[in-house]
Amino acid sequence: MRENVLLIGGGGREHAIARALEDSEADLYACAGNRNPGIAEIATDFETLETTNPKAVVDYAEDVGATIAVIGPESPLEAGVADELEAAGVYPFGPKEEDARIETDKAFQRRFMAENDIPGCPDFETFDDMDAACDYIDEYDGDLAIKPAGLTGGKGVKVIGDQVTAEEGKEYIRDSDYDQIVLEERLIGEEFTVQAFVANGEFRTAPAVQDHKRAYEGDEGPNTGGMGSYSDATTHLPFMSEEDYEEAVSIIEATVDALEDYRGILYGQFMLTETGPRVVEFNARFGDPEAMNTLPVLETDFLDVLTAARDGEAPPELEFASQATVCKYAVPEGYPTDPEAGAKVQVDEESAGDALLYYASVDERDDGIYTTTSRAFALVGVADSITEAEEIAEDALEVAGDEGLHVRHDIGKPDLVQRRIDHMTEIRGE
Ligand code: AMP
Ligand code: GLY
Repeated sequence: MRENVLLIGGGGREHAIARALEDSEADLYACAGNRNPGIAEIATDFETLETTNPKAVVDYAEDVGATIAVIGPESPLEAGVADELEAAGVYPFGPKEEDARIETDKAFQRRFMAENDIPGCPDFETFDDMDAACDYIDEYDGDLAIKPAGLTGGKGVKVIGDQVTAEEGKEYIRDSDYDQIVLEERLIGEEFTVQAFVANGEFRTAPAVQDHKRAYEGDEGPNTGGMGSYSDATTHLPFMSEEDYEEAVSIIEATVDALEDYRGILYGQFMLTETGPRVVEFNARFGDPEAMNTLPVLETDFLDVLTAARDGEAPPELEFASQATVCKYAVPEGYPTDPEAGAKVQVDEESAGDALLYYASVDERDDGIYTTTSRAFALVGVADSITEAEEIAEDALEVAGDEGLHVRHDIGKPDLVQRRIDHMTEIRGE
């Protein structure tokens, strides 16, 4: 039976999900706040709507006779879109509002880890009194990460000793009007992501990916939603061992066991420290950009994952091609603090050559595609090694030109990958 699959969200991640379903026995329908030209081309129909309005999403799902929905971003999850779809008889591949708190409420997330003895949790305290938080910073022996409890698009965290001093940290807390914050032990090491496909109490993991949060080359500048990412032809990354990956998977296992009815993607962000992987955060969805590393090498039909989940079965065993990937986002100049919209996108699927092109927050007009104030498009190389994949992505970026755009060209280059390896060697004292 052909399924009618509704895809919710209009970023690069959702374009990757659309591609993963393109050759499946499914008719794809899509809705997002922005009209993503890549998704619109694949989908049978595309509706522009407010995806945090559950009623609007459910109405559209019913109109198109959706049987399954895939929820890409976190904001519809937080708004209870999965709950409302399920109530309307559409199977949501994405957690209910309550379970999505693993991402949407960082205070809940840390308490959940502590209460369930999930390994890898840093020392933490939660505060709704900001003066008490500032006192804690004064008294704490060591550096702390300051995290607003709610969603901030990956841009709200400030790490003392890295981006800010203790004084600047306290000023940040006093000047913002967060209701609740988490202060936690600063973790030192290299970050990596492991995404798990979860349904009916079982899970399957994808190869590790490393994202690059900082806006500028050499890991300088403000935090962004993620400037680009790479994965290797193995499950792990050059700066880590297979055992490190397995340890991260065991943390995910403990988390899936503690979450009773979770379904969708569980994204673990880890810091590989001197003592092994620790949890930076969990997300309740694919990463963006990480989905663009993972889905192009997924050889199992993603629709089989969705139907198994819907039918009460464990997800199928997943096959991934033994290939490396490098993803680089082109973002508007000035992003994320002072982005300038309106640059014309010069690359299309054909001119991208061997690279895969994923559209994100762009605006399709009569005479072409233009950037908005958020990440515009990504180019992904897939090859036998990270170095070759990086060259494929760079060749396509050359076609795209750099007028009005900013790219972190260092992502996936041998120099930066080697720096990660050296950093880990130094931390582990090897
Ligand atoms: P999040 O929004 O939780 O992903 O945090 C954004 C970024 O802040 C992470 O990707 C890390 O680089 C950094 N970060 C968060 N928590 C910590 C921590 N406990 N120690 C060091 N860095 C952290
Ligand atoms: N790449 C980070 C995120 O999706 O949150």
